[in-house]
Amino acid sequence: MHFKDYIRTLPAYKPAKLINGPAAELVKLSSNENPLGPSPRAVAAIQAAAAEAHRYPDAASTALRAALAARAGLSSEHVTCSNGSDELILLLCLAFLNIGDEVVMAEGTFISYLLRTLELGARPVRVPLRDHAHDLPAMAAALTPRTRLVFVCNPNNPTGTTNGAAEVRAFLARVPDDVLVVMDEAYLEFAIRPDYPDLLPELRDGRPNLLLLRTFAKIYGLAGLRLGYAYGHPELVAYLERARPTFNVSTLAQAAGLAALSDDEHLARSRAHADASRRYFLDELRGLGLAPIPSETNFVAVPVGDDGAVCEGLRARGYTVTPLAGWGLPGLIRISFGTEAQNRGVMAALREVLNS
Ligand SMILES: Cc1ncc(COP(=O)(O)O)c(C=O)c1O
Repeated sequence: MHFKDYIRTLPAYKPAKLINGPAAELVKLSSNENPLGPSPRAVAAIQAAAAEAHRYPDAASTALRAALAARAGLSSEHVTCSNGSDELILLLCLAFLNIGDEVVMAEGTFISYLLRTLELGARPVRVPLRDHAHDLPAMAAALTPRTRLVFVCNPNNPTGTTNGAAEVRAFLARVPDDVLVVMDEAYLEFAIRPDYPDLLPELRDGRPNLLLLRTFAKIYGLAGLRLGYAYGHPELVAYLERARPTFNVSTLAQAAGLAALSDDEHLARSRAHADASRRYFLDELRGLGLAPIPSETNFVAVPVGDDGAVCEGLRARGYTVTPLAGWGLPGLIRISFGTEAQNRGVMAALREVLNS
């Protein structure tokens, strides 16, 4: 068979639980999930929708798109829904990249941008982070006539850093109209800084080359259902809608997403839990003499020396966290916030590992 070399050589995803032995014994702090679980309203909606599982879903996600549009002051034509935002990253690459095209992204950001670019035979142009955040002037300088896409992750996974409104707007002003900027805002609900950029007005003003990528997997606690969405210009959204599989968003996901949007209390509780966890981890890690990167998300990255060895040590004590060497950040690990007990447990384990 004629396998494509650039797909055959991609690293395979290694599920944390399989590397780590019996799943029940491990506390998973490696995927930035919501330890409080989904909204009870979402759970009830999933249960109610289950009886309709013999029917295909609404291929247009009509009610969910309308609700998302209303929240943003946009029309449904500005919204597309997906089987997780990861699917949209693949779709964007499928829809825009030819072999040899360039995609500008940070080195030390969400790994899917790199993998999906390589999968299409396109060329990643990776720009090092500055102070652990996106170096937007350097990314603007990296644009060439071959650039088709730019990925900006704000807040950034895995460093937890953000870029403010002024620098993001200055960056957008330097991007030519025919280059699509994908702002991945998977963690926006956790952002703290008062000047975190609200880019919805850009879309209301008709900006054609900006897509805001969001997900229900993080603060909404629906990672297992696979539900993402994006806001963009109607022409761009219509183009992506043609490229996607017809029934990419399940009936259960649509129902759960709609119900989750109505539960402001769950959102506030999840955010408060992340805020408290962040304070706890920053204090404790500093207490160990480490220098954690100030985070605006539901996880924290911290330099520990040998990231692989520290992760092994934590795994042996029952905790999976993420080594970041493979993300271009050797020496760092990323710890997702868990329940209070899990947070205390992983910190006790880390103390032991560092002292051993
Ligand atoms: C920055 C970023 N974007 C996208 C995703 C994918 O999210 P989803 O579960 O919606 O596919 C993740 C998941 O970890 C992420 O961290």
